[in-house]
Amino acid sequence: MNLLVTGGAGFIGSNFIRHMRETHPDYLIVNLDKLTYAGNLDNLTDLENDENYRFVKGDICNEALVRHLLRTYSINAIINFAAESHVDRSISDPGIFVTTNISGTQVLLEAARTYGIDKYIQISTDEVYGSLGATGYFTEETPLAPNSPYSASKAAGDLLVRAYHETYGMNVNITRCSNNYGPFHFPEKLIPLMITHALDGKELPVYGDGLNIRDWLHVRDHAAAIDLVLHQGKSGEVYNIGGHNERTNIQIVELILERLGNSKALIRYVEDRLGHDRRYAIDPAKLESQLGWQPKYTFETGIVETIDWYLENEVWWRDIQSGQYLNGYDFRYSEPANG
Ligand code: NAD
Ligand code: TYD
Repeated sequence: MNLLVTGGAGFIGSNFIRHMRETHPDYLIVNLDKLTYAGNLDNLTDLENDENYRFVKGDICNEALVRHLLRTYSINAIINFAAESHVDRSISDPGIFVTTNISGTQVLLEAARTYGIDKYIQISTDEVYGSLGATGYFTEETPLAPNSPYSASKAAGDLLVRAYHETYGMNVNITRCSNNYGPFHFPEKLIPLMITHALDGKELPVYGDGLNIRDWLHVRDHAAAIDLVLHQGKSGEVYNIGGHNERTNIQIVELILERLGNSKALIRYVEDRLGHDRRYAIDPAKLESQLGWQPKYTFETGIVETIDWYLENEVWWRDIQSGQYLNGYDFRYSEPANG
């Protein structure tokens, strides 16, 4: 197969590309990424000399470029990871979320339709379902009720994908995953932010009461699930992806501090995020029963490996902190105001 992977220089996209390299070394992978502040070519240095891998710096909103790539590389499938992905940034600057997550998705869909691409996969999120109370799980039938500009833009993208299936009969899938963790996670998100702050002896900012719940999945288990959906997903279906792994934020923070031997005195409760979703929890029964997916990582081993990865790859995250990773690109990394 010839794959167009968009947003492949980010956290999940780069882990997916590496996974596909290992499981399908003969596939051509074209990685189209704009290299926003979240895109980092250091995530894929091991593939630089791979003859079945191409990197293209560009925007998914650039219709001419997307069409050119579909033609030039005889693409069979598009897997769209490209997105603005950070909730806090969507609260302070929602506009770019609409542009990339909605308009960009439409550009990809339209090009896929024009060129009769065999499969289009939209990498979405459980956040489109909104927030849960103390009980219950998100299933594929849960109504969409997004609460942040980020999740609203992802939900709108999902609806476009659905419409292209219903209207034009396009072979699409939407995957909705819970919170990912693992190597190459950009250090503005909870787990890598807390690890890097703890290693620097900086305060760990916990929003609100720290009792919000997220359902954590190792990024490599997510990649394996997408691989299955690519090859076996039924046209038009949505698949939820999650590993039955709910934790409060404060549990995560305390676990990191304990592993690194730091004091809990570093914890600082700060003002809550606006519209902060209380709980996410995925029911992955459909993916398990229909496609036979099972996560391989337990959280206990996955989180320890992840903390160790940040210890062993200090240059990677120091380069992000200093802006070195951008190698002359426009943006510099700065932590969001309430982080
Ligand atoms: P990320 O922010 O780490 O990576 C996003 C990538 O997209 C970056 O490389 C960035 O440069 C690129 N990008 C942004 N705008 C672009 C544009 N207009 N054109 C081309 N490339 C562009 O995000 P991530 O955590 O890897 O998430 C990837 C996808 O998975 C997103 O669609 C996100 O909504 C979804 N998702 C993430 C999580 C999570 O826990 N991180 C969970 C569920 C779903
Ligand atoms: P985040 O990693 O931003 O993912 P998402 O908002 O997409 O779930 O945040 C995970 C949880 O951690 C969320 O409840 C907000 C909280 N959080 C903090 O308490 N402090 C922080 O500095 C960050 C970045 C997040």
